[in-house]
Amino acid sequence: MSDARPIGVFDSGIGGLTVLRALRARMPAENFVYLGDTARLPYGTKSAETVTAYALQASKLLVRWGGVKLVVIACNTASSVALGPLSAGLAPVPLIGVVEPGARAGVSASRNGHVAVIATEGTVRGGAYVRAIHAIKPELKVSQIACTLFVALAEEGWIDGPIVQEAAKRYLDPLFGGKQAAAPDTLVLGCTHFPLLAPAISALLGPKVQLVDSAATTAEAVALELAANNLLCTDKNNGRVSFMVTDSPERFVRVGPVFFGAPITSGDVETIDL
Ligand code: DGL
Repeated sequence: MSDARPIGVFDSGIGGLTVLRALRARMPAENFVYLGDTARLPYGTKSAETVTAYALQASKLLVRWGGVKLVVIACNTASSVALGPLSAGLAPVPLIGVVEPGARAGVSASRNGHVAVIATEGTVRGGAYVRAIHAIKPELKVSQIACTLFVALAEEGWIDGPIVQEAAKRYLDPLFGGKQAAAPDTLVLGCTHFPLLAPAISALLGPKVQLVDSAATTAEAVALELAANNLLCTDKNNGRVSFMVTDSPERFVRVGPVFFGAPITSGDVETIDL
């Protein structure tokens, strides 16, 4: 039996479109409803309590209003600090965050036993990536750096050039620069925006450091969860995506396609009140 109810994807704003892109690539027959809380972003600099309250309110709306069959928390910050309350608040609708899949990608990529995670302040402070990596492989060394400026750079479309290189050097040199004896060989991009900066970061760190993000592993986890619960949509006449934002739909239409990798028209985007 085919289940055509949409998958809900929640993010603080635009960045989660990188995750939606991977979800669609993995499951082209599924329908999606994306909700970006653009009125209240960024989440990455806010307290865990505030992020939990915002994320809970927004994703409950996805379930109530969007009639979704599963919720993906595409925002790393919300996945880091609010996954427990979100799971409880949305039950029995299954919920998947991006931290555990991202941690898994990092663990399988590392050869020298040292993994670095870059993320927002809130994600680093919450330590969820460190816990998730250690839950899989306790002996791994994990280093974290908050790269707050990368979010603004990606949203500005500044993904290469001297300003990006300088910012990347400033953030990453303490871990990777000079003659660091046991520098990490793997860098987890623990924020929705950072995959856009991957080419610039790779150019700085060189081929010995592998960059991984959670988008593909999250998409795989979602596909497995749907299959296990008999929730897959197998009817080929689907594959629709609709978008909801809490503010600035014009900005979402303008900046979103850079993250989504496909056009977004204003007719696809609805502005809602939470
Ligand atoms: N979506 C957030 C994350 O992945 C980044 C943007 C924000 O701070 O709201 O952590």
